[in-house]
Amino acid sequence: MENFEKLFILFLFALIHTIVLVDANFSKSMYITWGAQHAILQGEDLQLVLDKTSGSAAETKKRFLFGTIESRIKLVPGNSAGTVTAYYLSSIGSQHDELDFEFLGNSSGQPYIVHTNIYTQGNGSREQQFYLWFDPTADFHNYTIHWNPTEIVWYIDSIPIRVFRNYENEGIAYPNKQGMKVYTSLWNADNWATRGGLVKTNWTNAPFVAKFNHFRARACKWNGAISINQCALNIAANWWTSPTYKQLGYAQLGQMNWVRNNYMIYDYCRDTKRFNGQMPPECFKAQF
Ligand SMILES: *[C@@H]1O[C@H](CO)[C@@H](O)[C@H](O)[C@H]1NC(C)=O
Ligand SMILES: *[C@@H]1O[C@H](CO)[C@@H](O)[C@H](O)[C@H]1NC(C)=O
Ligand SMILES: *[C@@H]1O[C@H](CO)[C@@H](O)[C@H](O)[C@H]1NC(C)=O
Ligand SMILES: *[C@@H]1O[C@H](CO)[C@@H](O)[C@H](O)[C@H]1NC(C)=O
Ligand SMILES: *[C@@H]1O[C@H](CO)[C@@H](O)[C@H](O)[C@H]1NC(C)=O
Repeated sequence: MENFEKLFILFLFALIHTIVLVDANFSKSMYITWGAQHAILQGEDLQLVLDKTSGSAAETKKRFLFGTIESRIKLVPGNSAGTVTAYYLSSIGSQHDELDFEFLGNSSGQPYIVHTNIYTQGNGSREQQFYLWFDPTADFHNYTIHWNPTEIVWYIDSIPIRVFRNYENEGIAYPNKQGMKVYTSLWNADNWATRGGLVKTNWTNAPFVAKFNHFRARACKWNGAISINQCALNIAANWWTSPTYKQLGYAQLGQMNWVRNNYMIYDYCRDTKRFNGQMPPECFKAQF
């Protein structure tokens, strides 16, 4: 065993008693920040409602640095054009980090778009979009963001759809210093969401309802200071496969390729026109 590894494991044993792992349901971990008059937050369930008067939103009480954030979501059924359901992590300030899942509604019988993005130190512009291989309005599905010091993985029903790896040592910013809250919201974005704003929200179908349940943040509570905190090290030992942080195995890579080959509809790394040929540096790095 390498000396480093020995030291690392000793270090973990020394820390094992100081761990804070949060694992809670919606009512325990979140509060409603907008549209409280018609959103519902109860036990394992959160219902966000949008009507002509207001959308709604909720966020976690705590901030996290690294972890697995999981929720089951049933999206607005029927004609949801113009609505956006968002489920994301974000820190605060102009140099903020953010990890996004957004669901862009569509006319009845037309597919939802799953929009993903990542901001590092205030800089986004890394959109990737997908269609789904199921009807996301018929039932609840598992949308999970796994964020460790080595990589970030977006999962749908345990199928990885996107990875963003840490290439900080090559000058590409990585979110590992700022704690993030988990946010959810349902709002009217008919100025851009459906076919670039061409399709407007049809309010005769209101109220629009997005349902969430089984929220789990198996995550490290952020203490506001250090980056790779004690909890992250513990998670590394117990669940991210010590001592290297978990990365995808071959079977999961196969699943991810299946999604990306068949369901991906936009990738910023292929949008040479947008970046005028000056592609973002991570586009030249392996992302798996
Ligand atoms: C939510 O979580 C809290 C804390 O873990 C627990 O006390 C409560 O019973 C849970 N409620 C439901 C409905 O699961
Ligand atoms: C949701 O997906 C994540 C990531 O694959 C997985 O760890 C978790 O167990 C899943 N949750 C459920 C309830 O299946
Ligand atoms: C809505 O569905 C149409 C037809 O499949 C598609 O062209 C359009 O991009 C979709 N828009 C959104 C926002 O999902
Ligand atoms: C809005 O929805 C109602 C009820 O489904 C429908 O009758 C009406 O034609 C729709 N309006 C537009 C502009 O599509
Ligand atoms: C912001 O991100 C874009 C896209 O990834 C990249 O091209 C650009 O260089 C970044 N800007 C800064 C200041 O990091």
